[in-house]
Amino acid sequence: MNKATFQACTDVALIKYWGKKNEQLRLPENGSISITLADLHTITTVEFSSSYNQDEIIIDNEQLDIEVNRVIEHLNRIRQLANTALRAKVVSQNNFPKSTGLSSSGSGFAALTLAACTALNLNLSDKEMSILARQASGTACRCVIGGFVEWLDGNTSDTSYSTAIFSNQHWDIRDVVAVVDSNIKDISSTAGHTTAQTSNFYQTRLQHINRKINQIKKFIKSKDFTQFGELIEQECLEFHAILLTSKPSLIAWQPGTIAVMKTVQALRKSGIPAYFTINTGFNVHVLTLPAYQLAVTQALQKLPCVQNVLTSQISAKPQKLSTHLF
Ligand code: PMV
Repeated sequence: MNKATFQACTDVALIKYWGKKNEQLRLPENGSISITLADLHTITTVEFSSSYNQDEIIIDNEQLDIEVNRVIEHLNRIRQLANTALRAKVVSQNNFPKSTGLSSSGSGFAALTLAACTALNLNLSDKEMSILARQASGTACRCVIGGFVEWLDGNTSDTSYSTAIFSNQHWDIRDVVAVVDSNIKDISSTAGHTTAQTSNFYQTRLQHINRKINQIKKFIKSKDFTQFGELIEQECLEFHAILLTSKPSLIAWQPGTIAVMKTVQALRKSGIPAYFTINTGFNVHVLTLPAYQLAVTQALQKLPCVQNVLTSQISAKPQKLSTHLF
């Protein structure tokens, strides 16, 4: 049967990928480090069959044109590898709000790549799977791996892929996500990457990025949460300084985003180790240690601007499921 289902988790970048040196191949200007999140995932079933005349794509019970074209392009890459013209039905379900800065394209394209390759009996290594997923979504090349992940900044398609630097068992860190809005964000990362070079500060960022990558790996290895947290929060603010000073300026935050950032800093003053990071959206990831997860969750739930709080541990690799979505 040419049918398979995978569950892949989204991730949050600790040192962020921003800007591409090759648009078509999605080669990033810099390497990045992330953790994948066990409780924010996409489940995708793919079936290839001669009974389908065209690809049919359903994401969160809807057929949306923009995503559908990107999915079909990726199915074409996979069909070419498997040397088949069979059309596919794809059904995908997220358990968190998509297109709100929580990297649903990462988990979505990771689950799609794994399910489609498995359905077509393509036996790819982790490295090959990461290279393939990268061409659909940069973040997805990290999400196919799982745990603490590094995306290597290669200059060619074959050298730009992700590896696990530590498994999820290495260090128990919790992500408490403050959802301040679940409407679709107005900044697309795909478009945003192309404006990175227009910020006067972008070259400075690139000069320091490898030092930051080495530092974060050291802090993860030694499980130094204070140094880890200070670095990821500073990195988040530097990344947003690039967005703010790009032409045109990209302001991802909403008033609720800033209220959460200030609450996190106040929590630290009261002795709770918590640090924020934010992608191109307005929702905020707050990283903390297990003993403080409840206190952080309760503090965020009290804020009128926070609609919902999602909590997550770090995930292992994506999983193949035996139950299909159709
Ligand atoms: O994979 P994209 O094109 O959605 O870009 C992701 C960009 C950031 O989330 C801001 C950073 C990252 O490394 O995930």
